[in-house]
Amino acid sequence: MTDAPSPASRRQFMQTAATLAATASLSAPRISHAANERLGVGYIGCGGRAQAHLNMVRHLRDKANYPVDLTAACDVYRPRMQRALEKYSIPKGYMGHRELLADPNVDVVCIATPDHQHARQAIDAVNANKSVYCEKPITHWSQFDQLKALHATVKASKVAFQLGTQAMSDPVWRQMKKLVQQGLIGQPVFGETSYFRLGDFGERGMHIDDPNAKPGADLNWDAWLGDRPKVPFNVDRMFRWRLFEEYAGGPVTDLYPHSATQIIDILGVSMPDTVVAVGGIDRYEYELRTVPDTFNLLAHYPEKATLSVLGTQANDFNSIEGYRGGGQRLPYVRGYDGTLLIRNNRQIVFQPVRAKGAKQPVIIDIEGGEDNVAHWQNLLDNHRSGTQDTWSPIDLAYRTQTAMIMAMLSYKQRRVAGFDTAAQKITMGA
Ligand SMILES: NC(=O)c1ccc[n+]([C@@H]2O[C@H](COP(=O)([O-])OP(=O)(O)OC[C@H]3O[C@@H](n4cnc5c(N)ncnc54)[C@H](O)[C@@H]3O)[C@@H](O)[C@H]2O)c1
Repeated sequence: MTDAPSPASRRQFMQTAATLAATASLSAPRISHAANERLGVGYIGCGGRAQAHLNMVRHLRDKANYPVDLTAACDVYRPRMQRALEKYSIPKGYMGHRELLADPNVDVVCIATPDHQHARQAIDAVNANKSVYCEKPITHWSQFDQLKALHATVKASKVAFQLGTQAMSDPVWRQMKKLVQQGLIGQPVFGETSYFRLGDFGERGMHIDDPNAKPGADLNWDAWLGDRPKVPFNVDRMFRWRLFEEYAGGPVTDLYPHSATQIIDILGVSMPDTVVAVGGIDRYEYELRTVPDTFNLLAHYPEKATLSVLGTQANDFNSIEGYRGGGQRLPYVRGYDGTLLIRNNRQIVFQPVRAKGAKQPVIIDIEGGEDNVAHWQNLLDNHRSGTQDTWSPIDLAYRTQTAMIMAMLSYKQRRVAGFDTAAQKITMGA
C-alpha cells in the first residue's frame, strides 16, 4: 500500500495551515448543539440558486424530520427577499448580510450571492461564529487574497464550512480516492475531465425580474457591487452578472469547480507549480459579454501529476463510459500501473496496465450518487458536532480555486502562472 506522494511543498503547505489553525483556534469560541436542538439557517442572497437551497433545507425539516428551521433571509434587492419570506414562511428578512449575521437565531448561513460577494460574506459569517454553506466558486477569480484570508479564517475557527460543489456528496469520489491511496494504479500522474455544457447561460438563463428596477430603498446597488468598480446601475449587470468578468469568470469558475474538485482530491495534490490556459469568446460574441465561453486548462503539480480540464462549445457528446449528462464528462484518473474511470454512473472500472498477471479490467459496483440534500445535512451534522470534516472542505476549496484563479490569470495575461509555496503567492511568468 502506498500513500499519495508528499514532497516538501505539500508538507510546507499543510504545516502553514496547521500552524495558523493551531494558533488562532485557541481563541475561537466552541460551538456545540445537543443532538435534537434546532438549528436556524439564514440565507444570504435569494436569487435563482437560493430557491434550490430553500427547498433542500425545507425538505430536511419536513420530510426527513431533521431539527432545522428556515430562520432568516437577506437580499439587497427587496422583491427577492420578500418572495423568499412569503414562499417559505421565513420570519425575518434583512437587506444586508451583516444584519442577518447579528441575528442570534441564525446558526448556519447559506451564501448564494454573485461570485464576488462570497469570500467577504463568508469571512464575516465565520467571524460571527456561523457555519457556512458557500456556493461555488468560493471567490471571484480576481480575489486570491480574499481566498487566502477565508482559508485562514475558517481554519482558525470552530465552525463548519461546506463549498457548494455538491457532486462531492457522491461517495464514489471517496471510494476512488481510497483505491488510489491504496496504490491500485501506482503513482497517480494524470486526472482528466471536461465540461462541455453548451449555451450562453449568462445571456439566456438569467432572468431580468424587472427591466425598470432602480437603486433606492428596495435595491442597494452599492452593496450589490461590494468591492467591484463603482459603475452606474444597469439591469444587465445586476440580473445577468455572469456575462461580466468583474463579477464572473465563465466556465473556469462557474463550472470547473464541479468537475476539478474531486480529481484534485483523488490525486492528493497541493498547489500547482504551473498552470496554462487557452480559450476565448468563440461562439457568443455579444456586445456585453466579457467572460470566455471556451476554456481549456492544464495544471502541473509538484507531486508529479497533471490535471486537464477542457471545455469548448463544439457539441456535448461524450464517450458512453463517461457520460453523465449536461456535457460533464466523468474523470479518468491514470497512474503508472493502471487507470480508474466510471462507467454508466454505475461502476468504477480499473484497467491495469503494468501489473503482473491479469490485464482484464476489474469492475467495482458503486452505489449512491450526487445528493444535494445530503450535502446540506453533512454541513449541519458537522456544525452540530463542532467538527470541520465536511465533504467539500475549505482546504480542498483553497487548492481547487487557486488552480482556477491561476488558469484565469494565464488566459487573460497570456502568460504561464506559477505558485510560490512558501509565500502562498501566485507568480506570473514572462
Ligand atoms: N452549485 C450549483 O450547482 C450552483 C447552481 C447555480 C448557481 N450557483 C452559484 O450560486 C451563486 C448565485 O447564483 P444565482 O444564479 O442564484 O444568482 P442570482 O443573481 O439569481 O442571485 C444572487 C442574488 O444575490 C443577491 N445579492 C447580490 N449582492 C448581495 C449582497 N451583498 N447581499 C445579499 N444579497 C446580494 C442578488 O440581488 C440576487 O438576488 C453564484 O455564485 C453561482 O455560481 C451554484
